[in-house]
Amino acid sequence: MSIQSLSPISVSPNLGTANVPVRTDAYAEIWQESINDPEKFWLDSAELIDWDRKPTRAIDRHSETEWEWFPDGELNTCFNAVDRHVLAGHGDRTAVIYDSAMTGTQSKISYAELQDHVARFAGVLRASGVDKGDRVLIYLPMIPEAIISMLACARIGAIHSVVFGGFAANELVVRINDASPKVIVTTSGGLEPKRVVEYLPIVDKALKASNGSVRTVIVADRELIPGSAADYQGGDVEYLDWQEAEAKAQPVAPVPVEATHPAYILYTSGTTGNPKGVVRDTGGHAVALTRSMSQIYGIKPGDVFWSASDVGWVVGHSYIVFAPLLAGATTVIYEGKPVGTPDAGAFFRVVEQYGVKVLFTAPTALRSIRREDPELEGAGRYDISSLEALFLAGERLDTETYHWANDGLHCPVIDHWWQTETGWAITANPRGIELLETKPGSSTVPCPGVDLRILDDQGHEITEPGIEGNIALKLPLPPGYLKTVWGAPERFFSSYLKEFPGYYATGDSGFVDEDGYVFVMGRTDDVINVAGHRISAGAIEEALAHHDAVAEAAVVGVRDTLKGHRGYGVVTLKHGFEGDLDALQKALIAHVRESIGPVAAFRDVAIVSRLPKTRSGKVLRKTIRQILDGEEVKVPATIEDRSTLDEILALGTADPDVAHTGAVKTQIAG
Ligand code: COA
Ligand code: AMP
Repeated sequence: MSIQSLSPISVSPNLGTANVPVRTDAYAEIWQESINDPEKFWLDSAELIDWDRKPTRAIDRHSETEWEWFPDGELNTCFNAVDRHVLAGHGDRTAVIYDSAMTGTQSKISYAELQDHVARFAGVLRASGVDKGDRVLIYLPMIPEAIISMLACARIGAIHSVVFGGFAANELVVRINDASPKVIVTTSGGLEPKRVVEYLPIVDKALKASNGSVRTVIVADRELIPGSAADYQGGDVEYLDWQEAEAKAQPVAPVPVEATHPAYILYTSGTTGNPKGVVRDTGGHAVALTRSMSQIYGIKPGDVFWSASDVGWVVGHSYIVFAPLLAGATTVIYEGKPVGTPDAGAFFRVVEQYGVKVLFTAPTALRSIRREDPELEGAGRYDISSLEALFLAGERLDTETYHWANDGLHCPVIDHWWQTETGWAITANPRGIELLETKPGSSTVPCPGVDLRILDDQGHEITEPGIEGNIALKLPLPPGYLKTVWGAPERFFSSYLKEFPGYYATGDSGFVDEDGYVFVMGRTDDVINVAGHRISAGAIEEALAHHDAVAEAAVVGVRDTLKGHRGYGVVTLKHGFEGDLDALQKALIAHVRESIGPVAAFRDVAIVSRLPKTRSGKVLRKTIRQILDGEEVKVPATIEDRSTLDEILALGTADPDVAHTGAVKTQIAG
């Protein structure tokens, strides 16, 4: 493999200072070039990484809905993220900072050490029978082993699928059955502020209920948490201790793979309870993420970049693991919360301690800090002058939180919009190119490579500024965006490409203003964004409907001052139920937690005698949601029985901060 300079793209970043934007035409020129001549634009961008076989073409377009990025290129992502920095003489540079506010542990891993761990762990996977194309399920909390195992998979061309720790065994089963991994990499457990989450019993339960593809479970032992590989010996599945296996393993060199080879599968909630396995390719992913570090975040090799997310989410995949390391920066893996570990100054302590230059988190994290520490006294205790920008994503950034952070932190607060499917930002303020003026409520402008349009429900383009519609992206999607849905290419088509031929339907609605700024307003489907976590209303409904007492269930996403939104269930009971209703409500909440996991944060369920429906039997979820949010409601003329709304009205508003008085007016439309 050859070593190349890390920044061949000739853009001198105008990063601006504090909140003062720098106005040039750099962004507009780069964006235009990416749309006019994507072939040149992305081939130039491909120079940012090292290839075993350099691509001669950026894109092969097989049909309107099928394309391949860098079709004749070959590379290895792990080599690009680790080895090439060591070979370039940066082995001593810190690659990973591990900071556990839960255990008080802090450690640093240099690029050379990371290379050693990753090469050995790749050897462990190999010895467990994992080859190129095999799947490995990673079920780990925020510990360095998560990064090492993801990179080790990339090193041998294995396809990883990381599952977030807050999911229940049932969700693990769904993912095991869909991806059929040979190996699971896990640990004795994770630490939440008030409890220890033991992972091994969850894995054991999931294995007993799954399809039997898993041959080996590799366990990173955490001394503080009960359970180890030794406790599970003797069954059909082999359990290995990570440290013992790594000590014995032969280091493995990076295996070049086709640019089109799947890099990983990440499951995300769709409209049904069946999650979609988003598949990312290797070459497009590596190129796009490397480019994003300089162009969007303004990060150079050696800078400290901290994404306070979780490796189980797409933000964690891209910006805790791959992008910072591809760019030769230092990444932080933080095990803790913004508040309570130990206080609302936790994030600022990390910023000071490691000289974090760019922090990336979700608005809900800021809201939790604001609730505990409205005057930002926590930030005042630390020197956070290293912080040049705060990026936010995962949900809409409400203007109140934006102003609070912007006023209090003295650095640009940048909202950017993206999805599990896209892997990197769709719209952003590209501070690495130039810092554009911020408009509160807007996630700024489409990233280079993104051709964004607003479409009406019939698929006609809305060109008038300020008119809301469906946000769609003109095909082909940029490199790094999803390639397909694992095992279900037809689902890729039906979920994303069918609704508006020639476009990818984002599932979000919004508008573009007269300056080209994009405002994302919310989902058009029944996906609920709970504290920056994407939860399917359909999955909660399915869980409720499986309870013995429940006849029918409707779940809607209601507004929540802290978490943005949360699920709210309304159920009817099977005929003849005679038990205690309070106890049943508690049991239903526990049942959802057991089925989906604590991360669903499902706390509200109301029992009614009938659900409001149209004459054709469709549940009026939007009407239910509007009533619970205290909005003015326009009841569809097709309602079967208007009196069914009285019970919903009697529930009051879901948010105790929203007054109910007179806010709800119903009127029969038409
Ligand atoms: N393992 C096990 N349980 C977990 C978990 C994990 N990794 N993460 C969360 N949970 C549990 C929590 O302990 C909580 O359980 P409880 O009901 O017993 O209290 C429940 O899931 C709900 O969690 P959450 O809604 O996340 O609240 P929180 O107080 O744990 O955390 C935030 C608050 C703001 C820190 C967290 O929601 C967060 O980081 N959100 C941002 C998500 C994100 O990064 N999205 C990607 C875009 S940046
Ligand atoms: P996820 O796939 O979990 O990252 O969630 C993606 C969804 O979160 C998007 O479709 C949006 O609905 C929402 N989202 C993410 N970032 C933003 C943002 N900056 N502004 C508004 N909504 C956002």
